[in-house]
Amino acid sequence: MLFRSFLAAVLLAGSACAQTSTDCNPLNKTCPGDGALGTNYTIYLNQTLDDQLWTVTNTLTYSGDHADFSIKKALDSPTMTSSFYIFFGRLEVVARASPGRGIVSSIVLESDDLDEIDWEWLGGDPKHVQTNYFGKGNRTMGNRGQTLPGPDATAGFHNYTYDWTQDRLQWWMDDKLIRTVKYEDALDGKNYPQTPCRVKIGNWPAGDPKHMPKGTVEWAGGEVEWDKGPFTMSVKQVYVKDYSSGQEYTYGDKTGSYKSIKTVR
Ligand SMILES: *[C@@H]1O[C@H](CO)[C@@H](O)[C@H](O)[C@H]1NC(C)=O
Ligand SMILES: *[C@@H]1O[C@H](CO)[C@@H](O)[C@H](O)[C@H]1NC(C)=O
Ligand SMILES: *[C@@H]1O[C@H](CO)[C@@H](O)[C@H](O)[C@H]1NC(C)=O
Ligand SMILES: *[C@@H]1O[C@H](CO)[C@@H](O)[C@H](O)[C@H]1NC(C)=O
Ligand SMILES: *[C@@H]1O[C@H](CO)[C@@H](O)[C@H](O)[C@H]1NC(C)=O
Repeated sequence: MLFRSFLAAVLLAGSACAQTSTDCNPLNKTCPGDGALGTNYTIYLNQTLDDQLWTVTNTLTYSGDHADFSIKKALDSPTMTSSFYIFFGRLEVVARASPGRGIVSSIVLESDDLDEIDWEWLGGDPKHVQTNYFGKGNRTMGNRGQTLPGPDATAGFHNYTYDWTQDRLQWWMDDKLIRTVKYEDALDGKNYPQTPCRVKIGNWPAGDPKHMPKGTVEWAGGEVEWDKGPFTMSVKQVYVKDYSSGQEYTYGDKTGSYKSIKTVR
């Protein structure tokens, strides 16, 4: 189907907003196409997000020049997820991570076949940032993740940027390139994120032993201390640029290779 604009695509597809990665994995099935951003745009979180472009889980509280993603109780997980996809691109987010043991703030790109690119902060260890990536949902332990030193991410706003092409993936922190992964370095490309991704920014009480497996609580740095809440991540500004320029992206086969992705113009 040909769409005249991304907005029209979202409205017509309808399900684009509701679809989550687990609804339809294109490696196993024929799935609906992904609405493409196809351009670049900046949003300032001093005003309510456009609900055609973003799905908000729980609620965001707007506060002057930023939005707060506050966890007040178990199972709160305030998140903004784009209804559009980018097929390689750039994402710049000006954010402040949430404090609190067991609380995880994240900025993620994720595709329908579970390619994933992460920035993650543990509230109990605010002077480190975790960078990670996954290909086709392969979450076996490897040397993909890297924990890097940074400024206290919970004390102020910083600019966290991905620049993602078919050849290499970069993480930039406040104008400094801190990590590069090349296609061939990711298990000869097999573990390299390479399919159209949505943007997901959120705050998550991963250290909740009632609802999360033990391993997750341990990774999160320990159990959430609920009496110290609320735990708030804040976002000021998001810039996103799609390096492709179609209206819609579809999987041409079940390989999960970028070469199989078809762009509907
Ligand atoms: C695909 O389907 C097979 C069998 O139905 C299942 O074992 C596998 O986990 C599925 N893979 C994905 C990526 O969903
Ligand atoms: C962003 O998109 C606009 C059109 O909406 C275009 O004029 C501009 O050159 C683009 N900027 C970048 C950096 O790609
Ligand atoms: C939000 O911030 C941007 C950039 O500073 C500004 O241009 C815009 O007018 C602001 N919008 C509102 C509603 O305050
Ligand atoms: C998953 O990734 C690991 C390395 O992290 C690799 O050893 C393994 O072969 C991969 N599995 C598949 C199915 O590609
Ligand atoms: C964020 O950092 C990137 C990488 O240095 C830079 O290109 C971009 O202009 C910065 N964006 C903002 C909004 O400060």
